[in-house]
Amino acid sequence: MSALPPHPLLAELWRSGTELLGTETAIMGGAMTWVSERNLVAAIAEAGGFGVIACGSMTPELLAAEITATRALTDRPFGVNLIVMHPALDALIEVCLDLRVGHIVLAGGLPPGTAIAKIKGAERKLLCFAPSLALAKRLARSGADGLIIEGMEAGGHIGAISTAVLAQEILPFMPDVPIFIAGGIGHGEGIAAFLRMGASGVQMGTRFVCAEESIAHPRFKQAFIRASARDAQPSVQIDPAFKVIPVRALANDGTRRFTETQLEVIGRFRRGELSQEEASLAIEHFWAGALRRAVIDGDVAEGSLMAGQSVGFVKAVQPVATIIAELVAEAEAALARPLGRSAAQSKGRRDARPQPAATGG
Ligand SMILES: Cc1cc2nc3c(=O)[nH]c(=O)nc-3n(C[C@H](O)[C@H](O)[C@H](O)COP(=O)(O)O)c2cc1C
Repeated sequence: MSALPPHPLLAELWRSGTELLGTETAIMGGAMTWVSERNLVAAIAEAGGFGVIACGSMTPELLAAEITATRALTDRPFGVNLIVMHPALDALIEVCLDLRVGHIVLAGGLPPGTAIAKIKGAERKLLCFAPSLALAKRLARSGADGLIIEGMEAGGHIGAISTAVLAQEILPFMPDVPIFIAGGIGHGEGIAAFLRMGASGVQMGTRFVCAEESIAHPRFKQAFIRASARDAQPSVQIDPAFKVIPVRALANDGTRRFTETQLEVIGRFRRGELSQEEASLAIEHFWAGALRRAVIDGDVAEGSLMAGQSVGFVKAVQPVATIIAELVAEAEAALARPLGRSAAQSKGRRDARPQPAATGG
């Protein structure tokens, strides 16, 4: 059993989330390729959260092995995140169904109808990412049991809209579907605020990277601990004719070299040395294998340090149970506070007293 602090206010607010996930808290550990494997996923489940295996580019055989190994570490519920562009999507879904995975998260684009039908036909819970209100409604109509709203503050591949804007756009108009908020959440204050807006839970990635149980390389974890929110920057696109899918990561030599490579490749295209297709491929392939290089091999100079702005809240390597207990305690304190009072005012700190208004420019 996890030893979470009591959380009666939270329990009420995130009930639809915990009921859907079958967990004690409605905190999902967002799937992170290379990071969200058996150890982290099982640790999150054991601590009362909902871990999600990142399938990434795994083959069906590798995914089956990962699910089996995770189940050997925990008998609590966990999910599997599948990228819809994966060429073996159908086979990966079959693996999840055969191995009795209760929750499948479809990511990386709009899920095909066949995938939805297969998951729903097997009576498993389906969670999808909703990038707008119109698509949120469509996904709910197609059978999604829960939705994830992920703002551009998040780590990894990102959209163009912030978490706060997406939450305002979608939450008030979808009261009947559990919605989990992702992107930029690093403290229980944020969890409490989104639950008050009508969310059923949250999904956090960056905050779990430095968990003691995470297999991320010690240098990868150190980079997170040292970084502040402004170090987590979206990738730069030099020329709209050569699309770059935005990825938020800690700036390093690799991100600087990516910009230089784009300039050089686009220059060669303009001089007629490369076709448009060759130039696009050269840009697209720049980051191939880069996340693995950073997470597993510890190459923090040239690898991809995917991280969200919430990296500023990562201060130390901690056990997952401590991270979740802290988040729960912070959220519970935020909810218990009389409305209109800041946390510091509630503690009666001198520095929290109202200051005279600043004058002049
Ligand atoms: C290193 C890293 C890898 C990620 N890989 C994936 C992935 O494979 N699939 C996915 O759906 N989301 C992926 N994400 C996004 C997370 O699941 C989660 O939604 C996001 O981290 C939430 O925002 P936060 O980083 O501010 O907590 C990744 C994020 C990070 C930081």
